[in-house]
Amino acid sequence: STAALFSVPYEHSLRLVNGANRCTGRVEVYHNGTWGTVCDDGWSINDAQVVCRQLGCGSALSAPGNAFFGPGPGPILLDDVNCSGNESSLSQCPHAPWGRHNCGHQEDAGVTCEVPYEHSLRLVNGANTCEGRVEVYYNGMWGTVCDDGWNINDAQVVCQQLGCGSAVSAFGNAFFGRGIGSIMLDDVNCTGNESSLFDCPHAPWGRHNCGHHEDAGVSCEGSLRLVNGANRCAGRVEIYHNGTWGTVCDDGWSINDAQVVCQQLGCGSALSAPGNAFHGPGSGPILLDDVNCSGNEYSLSQCPHAPWGRHNCGHQEDAGVICE
Ligand SMILES: *[C@@H]1O[C@H](CO)[C@@H](O)[C@H](O)[C@H]1NC(C)=O
Ligand SMILES: *[C@@H]1O[C@H](CO)[C@@H](O)[C@H](O)[C@H]1NC(C)=O
Ligand SMILES: *[C@@H]1O[C@H](CO)[C@@H](O)[C@H](O)[C@H]1NC(C)=O
Ligand SMILES: *[C@@H]1O[C@H](CO)[C@@H](O)[C@H](O)[C@H]1NC(C)=O
Ligand SMILES: *[C@@H]1O[C@H](CO)[C@@H](O)[C@H](O)[C@H]1NC(C)=O
Ligand SMILES: *[C@@H]1O[C@H](CO)[C@@H](O)[C@H](O)[C@H]1NC(C)=O
Ligand SMILES: *[C@@H]1O[C@H](CO)[C@@H](O)[C@H](O)[C@H]1NC(C)=O
Repeated sequence: STAALFSVPYEHSLRLVNGANRCTGRVEVYHNGTWGTVCDDGWSINDAQVVCRQLGCGSALSAPGNAFFGPGPGPILLDDVNCSGNESSLSQCPHAPWGRHNCGHQEDAGVTCEVPYEHSLRLVNGANTCEGRVEVYYNGMWGTVCDDGWNINDAQVVCQQLGCGSAVSAFGNAFFGRGIGSIMLDDVNCTGNESSLFDCPHAPWGRHNCGHHEDAGVSCEGSLRLVNGANRCAGRVEIYHNGTWGTVCDDGWSINDAQVVCQQLGCGSALSAPGNAFHGPGSGPILLDDVNCSGNEYSLSQCPHAPWGRHNCGHQEDAGVICE
């Protein structure tokens, strides 16, 4: 059967064993006819990053050692792995010769990767998470979108789906660099009000007449971050617009505004909306003033506000947020 064909490991195949899903577990690599483990000597998030990417599992979240996912059987095949993080496979990283090590299985290396769900969407190679080459996750891997027919309506759907506000531009011709892997979507033809890119008309998955030099990209108006707080869900509000990060003035800043920020960042509910540069004064432009959210907008930039960059504030009035 085809299933049996696909299950034959090729040299230097990777798998994650004993985790909650296929994107988490003890790292095992196939070499010279057997599966074996990797020693945690020098094991770091850069190494985990390569493993996660190679498996189509998105970004690495952690790189636990000490047989966190249990000690493996079989040979210890790799030691002193030292990836820079951008290698496309673990076996490309510097490492001790295959099978050479000074370890026991109680030192087996593991990784935890994010688990992209089918039809995940991401933007790659932009200045922030709200611009870049459009990549979609389908059938276990990330791939790109062809620019045939790609326009601002399509970009609009991508931006809204990612909680990035409105689209500023739709790019073709691999503006954000050429992707690798499959070209998943072509002839995308959104009206602009679909709630997901995958609801838009498009050629059948994987069917296209394109090359990666035609990869589609987008730039969205709003990307948000919280700076100088105790964790990523608290801090001075900073927003990305037209190529720069800037701050938000506290004039009219309220718990409703904070609520939108917290939800946009996946940080739950807002606990408070401190003003007066509670988290320190920012630098750079003051981009938003007189923000007046009702609280159920999906992004801060959707809320009523003074025109971008127009304000009567100083950085001692920078707005902050503390989310639950
Ligand atoms: C591969 O494994 C066989 C035993 O199964 C061994 O004889 C041989 O030396 C190994 N080759 C390499 C390159 O490790
Ligand atoms: C890992 O590689 C970097 C260069 O990429 C080097 O500076 C460093 O010494 C290496 N670490 C080990 C433990 O070999
Ligand atoms: C990986 O990144 C390093 C710098 O961090 C660079 O020197 C190297 O060329 C990159 N390798 C690849 C394959 O992109
Ligand atoms: C895109 O969809 C519209 C209808 O929403 C249709 O009129 C148009 O022909 C389509 N364009 C392409 C290139 O398929
Ligand atoms: C999207 O907008 C078009 C007109 O531009 C309309 O015909 C269609 O019903 C709308 N779809 C939804 C889901 O709102
Ligand atoms: C965007 O920034 C550039 C300078 O970087 C400026 O010339 C342009 O007017 C700005 N556009 C908007 C819409 O703010
Ligand atoms: C904020 O919006 C509400 C309506 O949602 C309005 O009643 C109120 O006057 C606005 N506040 C400011 C300061 O613009």
